[in-house]
Amino acid sequence: MISIAVDGPSGAGKSTLSRRLAAELGYIYVDTGAMYRTIGLFALRKGADLDSETELAALLPEICLEMRYVDGVQHMFLNGEDVSGLIRTQEVSMAASRISAHPAVRAFLLETQRGLARENNVLMDGRDIGTVVLPNAQIKIFLTASAQERARRRYEELAARGEKDSFEQVLADVRQRDYNDTHRAAAPLCAAQDAVTIDTTGYDFEQSFQKMLEVIRRAQKQEG
Ligand code: DC
Repeated sequence: MISIAVDGPSGAGKSTLSRRLAAELGYIYVDTGAMYRTIGLFALRKGADLDSETELAALLPEICLEMRYVDGVQHMFLNGEDVSGLIRTQEVSMAASRISAHPAVRAFLLETQRGLARENNVLMDGRDIGTVVLPNAQIKIFLTASAQERARRRYEELAARGEKDSFEQVLADVRQRDYNDTHRAAAPLCAAQDAVTIDTTGYDFEQSFQKMLEVIRRAQKQEG
């Protein structure tokens, strides 16, 4: 089985690019952020203290997480309910960032993620895929862009959906999430030593896509 790990900060374009690349390569796309978001949503609904590992750990056994593929698109199901749309709000983004700091939450998802890579050729995106989840992935990419550029993209995406956060608010959230994701003790966001870093600042979707494809094709050739 072949695994491609794509890590990077929020808003670097990981999900859209990864989805398209996986389709191009005929691999399964695994969006691990969606898993953390789903747990974040559940914790919010339960009114749990997002910073309390004990409270969250007690909730985990109540969660049945399923990923189903509908026309090649990953849908997240939380105890049988399709929450794919609900997990995309700013509130859930921030909750996901906070609950993902807890080792108990990470351990809960680790086996599911590794299991998918054992059974399928995967392109998996997240924060710690190349470093922790799939350290033996054949190809690792660290995708990044400046905070300003990532906030601009996120702002446009939210505006298109009718969410009315100001740009300043979105930028502050991006910075806060960057801080949370890189400073937590458990599996902090960082590039694996053997990852190829791609900075998409100033690139449009197509340029970023071609750049990633080039890195993957080159690595595939070297693998023989
Ligand atoms: O990629 P995303 O924005 O959907 O991820 C939501 C949050 O989940 C993000 O702030 C950090 C966390 N996350 C993580 O800790 N590890 C991963 N492999 C994926 C996401």
